[in-house]
Amino acid sequence: MSTKTNNRAFHILLVEDNSGDARLIRELLSGADSSFDIEVAQTLSDGLDALASGSFDMILLDLILPDSSGLETFIRLQAAAPYMPIVIMTHLDDEELGVHAVRKGAQDYLVKDHISGDVLSRALCYAMERKHAEEKIKSLQSFHLSILDGIKTGVWVTDAHDIIRYANKGMGTIAGIPARKITGSQVLENFPDNTVKDFRPCYLKAKETLESLYYEAIPVKTPVGRQSYLSGWLIPRIKNGEFDGMICTVEDVTERRHLQERLIRSEQLAAAGQLAAYVAHEINSPLQAITTLLGMMKNDYSHDEELMENVDILKGAFGSIRDTVRNLLDLNRPGKDVRQLTDINCIIENTVALVRSHLKRNKIRISLELSSEIPDIIASPRQLSRMFLNLINNAVDAVALMSESQESRTNRISAGGEIRIRTCLAEKDIVISVSDTGLGISEKDLPNIFDPFYTTKKRKGTGVGLSDCRRVAEDHDGMITAENLPGGGAMFTIRLPLTRDTGT
Ligand SMILES: Nc1ncnc2c1ncn2[C@@H]1O[C@H](COP(=O)(O)OP(=O)(O)OP(=O)(O)O)[C@@H](O)[C@H]1O
Ligand SMILES: [Mg+2]
Repeated sequence: MSTKTNNRAFHILLVEDNSGDARLIRELLSGADSSFDIEVAQTLSDGLDALASGSFDMILLDLILPDSSGLETFIRLQAAAPYMPIVIMTHLDDEELGVHAVRKGAQDYLVKDHISGDVLSRALCYAMERKHAEEKIKSLQSFHLSILDGIKTGVWVTDAHDIIRYANKGMGTIAGIPARKITGSQVLENFPDNTVKDFRPCYLKAKETLESLYYEAIPVKTPVGRQSYLSGWLIPRIKNGEFDGMICTVEDVTERRHLQERLIRSEQLAAAGQLAAYVAHEINSPLQAITTLLGMMKNDYSHDEELMENVDILKGAFGSIRDTVRNLLDLNRPGKDVRQLTDINCIIENTVALVRSHLKRNKIRISLELSSEIPDIIASPRQLSRMFLNLINNAVDAVALMSESQESRTNRISAGGEIRIRTCLAEKDIVISVSDTGLGISEKDLPNIFDPFYTTKKRKGTGVGLSDCRRVAEDHDGMITAENLPGGGAMFTIRLPLTRDTGT
């Protein structure tokens, strides 16, 4: 085997203080197949200087030198030339030291008393080959890792026992924790049920069938408690026909999912609008005929007072049907409201002023904590006012229900309740919360209350209040959420982003 590259002599740095040993090495290598060009340094510091000024293919190192001794010698040289192969020379009585150096990264060790020219030459050539191969593997590894860490998609890999052995940076970003904290977790046991309930069956299916599987928009609670939707591939790794682990790609599709939901909702609303327009048309035509007939009756039978009274009642009733139909149509027409620089606190105060007497009648206190920090934003005052009115009316209903149930339980006069409205600035959002001391929202209703026409108030409600609130919030690029308060009652939180033309 010829290990000499480009017919060039290998340039060896021999760090050896014993001139007899140095001469011996020179002699041994002079008769070898490959040609070696040897430069000798007698101390570690000479060796370091030589490294700094010359270029070498490898280092042949005696660990016991006048200015350094033992493993320390190797460690300092290796630090100065991390990519250079180093072969250690020991004596019979310090062979152990050679073994330690190899563990620390030396390519090999040779026992001086047992070296022949051939053995030495071959050992040096192998050491260089091995080091080059190692460096190649390392550089390939870091090339692949840089690709994996560069992509935004999360990637993690389990072993045959479903333990995560690798997670890339993207995965850490999606999970909201450093990637290294993900490794070591047992996918099926360490992840709590409420975190990956829907993910586990997909993983098990891919593991059992040994076939790749795409999981779509699975709800996952990240370790930091964020509710996300994730999609990606589960690709089983197979060795000798058996499961040997899983490669999992992860994409956060939460934003996409929300957009889809909004699209579906606006389609639902559009469908409801079309239905409303159809119903309105069907009702309006006979209504028109009836109203005309009633007008004619009023002319023809004006002398019959009792009949006239009944005709007026009928006209009033049909008028209210017409108004209801008109409201239904208005509800589904896209808002033509004017957007202007709006003071949210002012809108809240005005809306509350409208309902004060209504609240008083129901013995409901209202408290406002409005932050003076929030700037004006571009918004529709009419829509926002309608949203706050809807929320206050709902809160009144909830508090009244609570009072009724308390009254029936304790048979005493109700103590009323409280509605609290707060505003504050949180980063780039204006946050408005409307909370009450009412009955709260049942777990069953909570996921549905923002759906159009979802109501628990039987005939008293139409179920459009909150769906309208959500539309208003989203029309302003914001969002509205609902939750129950630990002490009872419900809280609705609206986040509206600051617009570029804020008044500040
Ligand atoms: N503050 C609240 N406390 C408890 N439950 C509430 C509260 N606000 C809303 N809800 C629940 O959400 C449902 C939907 O509310 P939404 O305002 O959309 O319709 P509604 O009040 O029933 O009818 P309307 O169309 O007249 O507003 C309500 O029926 C009620 O069950
Ligand atoms: Mg309502």
